[in-house]
Amino acid sequence: MIDRTGRDGAKPLLRVLAGEAVWPPPLWLMRQAGRYLAEYRAVRSGVADFIALCTTPDLAAEVTLQPIRRFGFDAAILFSDILMLPWALGHGLAFREGEGPVLPPLRDAASLARLDPGRLAERIAPILETVRLVRAGLTREGFDRTALIGFAGAPFTVACYMVDGGSARDFVATRTMAYADPGLFAALMEKLTETTIAYLSAQIAAGAEVVMLFDSWAGLLAPPLFDAHVIRPARRIVAGLAALHPGVPVIGFPRLAGAALGPYAAGSGVAAVGVDTGTALGFARGAVGEKMALQGNLDPLAVLAGGAGLAAAVDAVLTAGRGGPFVFNLGHGILPATPVAHVEALVRQVRAG
Ligand code: CP3
Repeated sequence: MIDRTGRDGAKPLLRVLAGEAVWPPPLWLMRQAGRYLAEYRAVRSGVADFIALCTTPDLAAEVTLQPIRRFGFDAAILFSDILMLPWALGHGLAFREGEGPVLPPLRDAASLARLDPGRLAERIAPILETVRLVRAGLTREGFDRTALIGFAGAPFTVACYMVDGGSARDFVATRTMAYADPGLFAALMEKLTETTIAYLSAQIAAGAEVVMLFDSWAGLLAPPLFDAHVIRPARRIVAGLAALHPGVPVIGFPRLAGAALGPYAAGSGVAAVGVDTGTALGFARGAVGEKMALQGNLDPLAVLAGGAGLAAAVDAVLTAGRGGPFVFNLGHGILPATPVAHVEALVRQVRAG
């Protein structure tokens, strides 16, 4: 029997990321802090906008902790957004109600040159303060087995929002730039890769125990570009962090990567890969080998639906994840309309193994 109280040492998430098969598996959910929680909506309604929430440390720390208090998850993930890095580089960013993020489209060398890594330290200071407050809050509130995850967007996915200028269908402008102006695109990727290392390193120094790299649109790239703009930057980020903070695990989430999951796992050097909803866990296990941790991949729609369909879907994920190092999660973020009772049912079922 595995002792889940934390008395046996390391936190369950950290044990799994080190390659141990822990059962029942550690559990957390992407976008676990968010609009499906009334207590989140209450905090959110008191601030001017989403960026204000991300840059007000006591509020950001509070919403990070909300789902831990409710569900006792094995990980708290810093409440922020992948687009806070371009924001910190001085690129414009607004979140419009019902529309998502809006950014000035980056299409030329002049816009690239205006991104200013010199502003990074000052602009991310409140985010780092949030990390410190969450770490202290977890200890103060007795969540001894909950690990703190920091995160960033992977350079390609961040570039998608910067070049297309927001949530675009298929990110055609970004992917066209990769072919039509490879020099400009490579220079953008270079700037994002370097600043992502600095940003994640600072999160680790502030108390993040794990970091996750969200490459939500990785699977839009054809294989040679996937290599150049997904695997290679991930490898540089993982190596850069390993040199500064040896032993801190990186979870890579190359969403929609499909058949490229194996090459990503082998080529990037990540400790674990996040598996999206459309990829069978059995396939992912075959692709990454027996030793690497997998994280995923319950369909967020099953959680929205609830009932017997949810129970069957949770059971299928547990069955497929069993036997190797595995972290129970969703295959993409939880949907805002999800009833809290459905999340409670999911948690009970996963905890029962
Ligand atoms: O997981 C967590 O609880 C931590 C916080 C977190 C957020 N965004 C908060 C957020 C994380 C890890 C992210 C990552 C993120 N942000 C990704 C990668 C993962 C994925 O979903 O593919 C991407 C692509 C973004 C960019 C982004 N942020 C979009 C497209 C949107 C609009 C869509 C939406 O859900 O509203 C956001 C806004 C956002 N980020 C919200 C939250 C809680 C909603 C804003 C609000 O509450 O008003």
